[in-house]
Amino acid sequence: MKFFIDTANLDQIKEANELGILDGVTTNPSLMAKEGIKGEAAIMAHYKTICELVDGDISAEVISTEFNAIVEEGKKLADIHPNIVVKVPMIKDGIKAIKWFSDNGIRTNCTLVFSAGQAILAAKAGATYLSPFIGRIDDSNWDGVELISQISHIYSIQGYKTEILAASIRNALHIVKCAEAGADVCTCPLDSILGLLKHPLTDIGLAKFLEDAKKTQ
Ligand code: E4P
Repeated sequence: MKFFIDTANLDQIKEANELGILDGVTTNPSLMAKEGIKGEAAIMAHYKTICELVDGDISAEVISTEFNAIVEEGKKLADIHPNIVVKVPMIKDGIKAIKWFSDNGIRTNCTLVFSAGQAILAAKAGATYLSPFIGRIDDSNWDGVELISQISHIYSIQGYKTEILAASIRNALHIVKCAEAGADVCTCPLDSILGLLKHPLTDIGLAKFLEDAKKTQ
């Protein structure tokens, strides 16, 4: 399973990248707004900076919702850097645009996915990545990880090439469960990635080893 970081914060991107396990970055308009990035030029420049920091796929989301506008916006985003993946919402014009991008060699990430039916449509349209939002599904009292399992099963028996990118991750356990459920990629906040490191027995064991090591010096 590939690891993406889900943020537009450059310090967090650098920290995750320095771990040596980072395969890419996802952003969305809310994450860009959180960093105070404002205006088309600043947004484009921020994506370029991220592409220069991380050698991997970088999702940049369109804010247009009409087919022609999505295509024009997506083309501009894709021109920023070869690693840009155009993130397109799961709406009717979004599906049409994903098909257009797929036919024209531009990679896409279909976002705001909450059902297996949506996952089938995105795969048929040729999406490179599919982003089911598992945390938001959990928040609405459904099982987000179960959706990853269902989509993984469908894609496997149907031979769809679209990669399942588990999004809206809330904690380290989500990452483990998504790996078990067959996600190809997990995009995670830095805290959830670092949460994978934690186990009290590791801390206790290390303290003991370091204490005993003093006897050997
Ligand atoms: C990433 O691609 C998604 O936009 C993001 O994971 C959504 O996460 P949230 O539900 O925490 O906002």
